[in-house]
Amino acid sequence: MVKSLKRYLKYIFICLMVPWLHLGAAETVAKLKVEPPDFALFSQGKYVFEKNCVVCHGERGDGKGTMGLTLDIRPRDFRSGIFKYKSTPTDSLPTTEDLFRTVSNGITGTAMPIFSHLSERDRRAVVEYVKFFSPRWNHPKNYAKPLPRAVSPDWMDDGDKLKVQRAKGAELFMVTCVPCHGPKGEGNGPNAVQLVDLWNFPIKPGNLRAAHLRQGEEMADWYRVVTQGIAGTPMPTFADSLTGEQRWQIVAYLQQLRSEPVEKSK
Ligand code: HEC
Ligand code: HEC
Repeated sequence: MVKSLKRYLKYIFICLMVPWLHLGAAETVAKLKVEPPDFALFSQGKYVFEKNCVVCHGERGDGKGTMGLTLDIRPRDFRSGIFKYKSTPTDSLPTTEDLFRTVSNGITGTAMPIFSHLSERDRRAVVEYVKFFSPRWNHPKNYAKPLPRAVSPDWMDDGDKLKVQRAKGAELFMVTCVPCHGPKGEGNGPNAVQLVDLWNFPIKPGNLRAAHLRQGEEMADWYRVVTQGIAGTPMPTFADSLTGEQRWQIVAYLQQLRSEPVEKSK
């Protein structure tokens, strides 16, 4: 009698423990950051993609949709798993929020439209579907946390010091940026004509005087671009060749350049 009661208690104990063991296993998966696919979201995403994105990005996500082929700035080829608009380091995948922001806000100055009229769930679903095109999303090593946003140095708020630092930034700009972006930052430097991107399409250096910069409007965004470069494009990283201070000097100069009126070229 006692023996069978013991066996019964052991049985109850095992039944209680098994679900906890499972939870432990789920936690290990979460740490790897590769979330198991949510199939309902995925099939909704496929539907949203076919209705709204295929015309440019193509059925296979290769950027070869019927309209995509006609565009100067080509739609992204999602098969490469390389993204330009992100908060993570150059070689890493963007975060889900980065993709969600791009789909919601579009990309000014390109054909990539704003999709804020789609429901949030539709936008989240299509973002999950976009991940399906590249195997890079299956490997934890390609994931990274967003980089912290850089904080500008104190001299940025001190008029006299700022002037000195900007003058240094102007000199650095001449040497490091003008070859591509041109003397006034308008994107027409001597090296601008021959540039191609990772997908072998001609690419122009950004016009740094444009009303809206695609990578963002804040100095911390420009600092990120100069530090990280832009993946898949010839825009290089200056993390090794310039100090943090020098990158801020260039950013300070860029701020001044953007505030000057653009002269009409004759
Ligand atoms: C009219 C054409 C067009 C349509 C429709 C379109 N896109 Fe795009 N998309 C583009 C272009 C062009 C780019 C490249 C912009 C660039 O390189 O700066 C782009 C870029 C992107 C990017 C940014 C990739 C990166 O490098 O960070 C994402 C994400 C994206 N599209 C998702 C979508 C999704 C999802 C849809 C449908 C809901 C969609 N696009 C519909 C033209 C389009
Ligand atoms: C080898 C050529 C090259 C050099 C050198 C270069 N860039 Fe760029 N840069 C590019 C290209 C190409 C793009 C456009 C990428 C794209 O289309 O997304 C770009 C884009 C940018 C952007 C983003 C523009 C936007 O619309 O958001 C900024 C900011 C920028 N560059 C700043 C600089 C600064 C500052 C320097 C010097 C420290 C510099 N670049 C040096 C080629 C270059």
